[in-house]
Amino acid sequence: MSHAIGIIGATGAVGREIISLLEFRNFPVKELRLFASPRSQGLSIPFLDQTLPIEPLSEKNLQGLDIAFFCAGSSISKQWIPLALQSNCFVIDSSSTFRQAPQIPLVIPEINGHMIQKTHRLIASPNCATTILLMPLFSLHRAFQAKRIVVSTYQAASGAGAHLLQELKQETKAYLENAPYTHHLPFPYAFNLYPHNSPLHPDGYVEEEQKMAHETQKILEDETIQLTATCVRVPVLRAHSLSANVEFKQPFTLDEIYQLLASVPGLALFEDRAANRFATPRDASGKNDIFCGRFRKDPTQPNTLEFWAVGDQLLKGAALNAVQIAERQVQL
Ligand SMILES: NC(=O)c1ccc[n+]([C@@H]2O[C@H](COP(=O)([O-])OP(=O)(O)OC[C@H]3O[C@@H](n4cnc5c(N)ncnc54)[C@H](OP(=O)(O)O)[C@@H]3O)[C@@H](O)[C@H]2O)c1
Repeated sequence: MSHAIGIIGATGAVGREIISLLEFRNFPVKELRLFASPRSQGLSIPFLDQTLPIEPLSEKNLQGLDIAFFCAGSSISKQWIPLALQSNCFVIDSSSTFRQAPQIPLVIPEINGHMIQKTHRLIASPNCATTILLMPLFSLHRAFQAKRIVVSTYQAASGAGAHLLQELKQETKAYLENAPYTHHLPFPYAFNLYPHNSPLHPDGYVEEEQKMAHETQKILEDETIQLTATCVRVPVLRAHSLSANVEFKQPFTLDEIYQLLASVPGLALFEDRAANRFATPRDASGKNDIFCGRFRKDPTQPNTLEFWAVGDQLLKGAALNAVQIAERQVQL
């Protein structure tokens, strides 16, 4: 059976990846409809042997879709997902709008794919940095019970959308050519980095850091896990990196860690200790797998593990995860 599919945010960083994945993974598409803002009206995007026009969002235009991928940001999700649901469409939302709603499953298929049921009409896809953390962590948590996680992220420009990717490219070029450039952030980005600029909360954490804490508890179905994050935007085009320090309730050996991780689908060990070579964002760019390595025992505290993980946040962190959710749903 094939499906009428809509991508809301089709011209964006995530939307364009979803289009490629539907094509590359032979998703059963009967009809593909692409939506973006009024700025993109008149544009068209190739898909298979067709060239598809960008449509404006309207109640009428959303009619007749079987599956809708929402990747146009929170305000669009908040406004339009309730309308899409009224027309009995199955919705996968990449924004944070519904992630903490108790009745909405927040799904990484390799970890909690069992949450997707035939009756569900809306599934939320998690924050990208959280997905990159949990892909190596979930099987370790099941074996040794994570108690406290300290994580630092090194997040790519494309994590903030197509516009920041362009900003980084253009600003870097101008910097190298010593040409004038008016940057759109309150500080230069090329050859620089900055604490994640999502909204700052009164407790001093930014929203991205809070998302990592809350989404980890929801996906691992354990509200006792404590997580503290420091999220940093780095001048990398694509793929987020992170370092994690995880205290477990149970003791472990490094052999057990490597054995457990060897069979996790979507996860690849990437390390050459003799060459001191571990995964970089450029290794992970365009790849479906999350790469991990540098597993070591923290000598300052019992039952504590350190590791490094890198993943393409546009793929497993967003578009691939959303398409995998749709693949599971249509197979039920
Ligand atoms: N980027 C990532 O790595 C990542 C990872 C996980 C989750 N997410 C989430 O995925 C969503 C999309 O992120 P992104 O990085 O792809 O953003 P983006 O590159 O900025 O793309 C945003 C998309 O939304 C469309 N849009 C904006 N206003 C609209 C409107 N009024 N009506 C219809 N479409 C509208 C844009 O169309 P125009 O081109 O016409 O402006 C564009 O297609 C966000 O919620 C984000 O938090 C992103």
